[in-house]
Amino acid sequence: ESATGGPSCPGSLIVVSNRQPYRHEYDDAGPPTETDGGARSSATAQTRSITVDEPTGGLTAGLDPVVKRTDGTWIAWGDGEADFDVTDDRNCVAVPPGEEDYTLRRLDLSEEAVDSYYYGFSNRVLWPLCHGFPDLIEDRSNDFEWYRTVNERFADAVADHATADAVIWLQDYHLALAPRMIRESVPAGTTVAHFWHIPWPSPPTFRQCPAGGRVLEGLLGNDLLGFHVEQYADRFLECVDRFLPTATVDHERRTVRYDGGRTRVVATPMGVDAAAYDRDARSVDPDRLADLLAEYDIAPDTTLGLGLDRLDYTKGIPERLAAIERFFERNPGWRGEFTFLQKATPSRTDIETYQRHGDLVRSEVQRINRRFETADWRPIAYTEDYLSTDDICTLYRRADAMVVSPLVDGMNLVAQEYVAASVDGDDTLVLSDRTGAHERLGSHALTIDPIDTDGFAAQLEAALSMPAHERRRRMNTLRQRVFTGDLESWMATQFDWFRRLRDERGRTDAG
Ligand code: F6P
Repeated sequence: ESATGGPSCPGSLIVVSNRQPYRHEYDDAGPPTETDGGARSSATAQTRSITVDEPTGGLTAGLDPVVKRTDGTWIAWGDGEADFDVTDDRNCVAVPPGEEDYTLRRLDLSEEAVDSYYYGFSNRVLWPLCHGFPDLIEDRSNDFEWYRTVNERFADAVADHATADAVIWLQDYHLALAPRMIRESVPAGTTVAHFWHIPWPSPPTFRQCPAGGRVLEGLLGNDLLGFHVEQYADRFLECVDRFLPTATVDHERRTVRYDGGRTRVVATPMGVDAAAYDRDARSVDPDRLADLLAEYDIAPDTTLGLGLDRLDYTKGIPERLAAIERFFERNPGWRGEFTFLQKATPSRTDIETYQRHGDLVRSEVQRINRRFETADWRPIAYTEDYLSTDDICTLYRRADAMVVSPLVDGMNLVAQEYVAASVDGDDTLVLSDRTGAHERLGSHALTIDPIDTDGFAAQLEAALSMPAHERRRRMNTLRQRVFTGDLESWMATQFDWFRRLRDERGRTDAG
């Protein structure tokens, strides 16, 4: 435990991710549209008044409290903020404004770099590949080269900050090549670790990865490589075995020896800051709830279903809408009594697949609403509005059933957030068995196969007709699991691993 409470990192922590935890705006532009939500607060910096977006949900919101405690450094893409810290060529800023807990170093990437690195190799190749949609891969010329260049820029920035006792902790699929580059430029003894937040594909799928060997080599620059679930860790080792003949894989110990280094591969499922969601949900403002429901034309006393996702083809939103349609076909008695609120956040809209997907979702909502709506009721309330963390917690607490139905999802933190915010203890979670979260929550959620429309609709019926004592029994166990495996315990596990690997290395060096 650190002096400020919470797990402590064995060394000075440098987090490296594509997304930055805080986005500063120096004018009054409208609310964010492309984060995982985005809480907005006004803060006064030393010289002028600025607005700060703190992404809600997802990776950045999850790690922010941890880096705050460790007094570390966070390196991320500056996300097009033309006005940030132009006087400082290292583009460092102390965050959060007013608290100045840690250093955020932002990389300014050109439009061309972002188009190829983020909208290209990251989200037109690795994202569909890892989620098992190889048909959606678009391998455009120059994208990999830009991905490599941007990874190099991240690695250079890390080298500026790394000391021998540093723990460098990379996040996610945008940075697969950086670990090897970092390894080659930082002092010996520095720990390089990586957490891969999305699934890892099977070897036949991975075979379709352009420059797949380079991706594997890059990741094997890490001392530690983490996944959410065992299956992804095992598949990674299988891919190394299959596609990197000079690597030696020990499947039992989950280690790889390659090019003089050793990478330990682990499965450590991420959790959420359960206490914070619990606290926020307990203090919801009833007037705000009434306003929100009124805004979306939802009757105050309706039975409420909720979906909350980025508008991404992996999230299974059309499949969910089909199940809702089937539910109303089979249960006319619920017409007028049950409303499903779908909040969708537009995402990666420069990519045509995402644009088409958004169009499909919107038109399906309209079609289903036209089919069943009455003078004073619509089955689906749909919004792409920005919602603050408080608003999200208000909806989590009010919703009688949360529906999380991805076609595949590395973890899905929304499912866990909902459970943490279900402080009344009598709500139900309908959960896809293709999410990482299902390993932890599947036994007490209502499990669905997202593409089995009939089975899905039947589970919606079951969720809405479940007796209160049964709902309470299930939610009680779900809450225990979410609180036991929360963000802090996940961090403690990571830090234990960093410590263990450092000790092992120390012993080897001494011997
Ligand atoms: O699920 C992977 C992930 O990187 C999350 O960590 C994050 O919430 C989400 O994707 C956001 O994607 P983007 O940064 O492209 O908006």
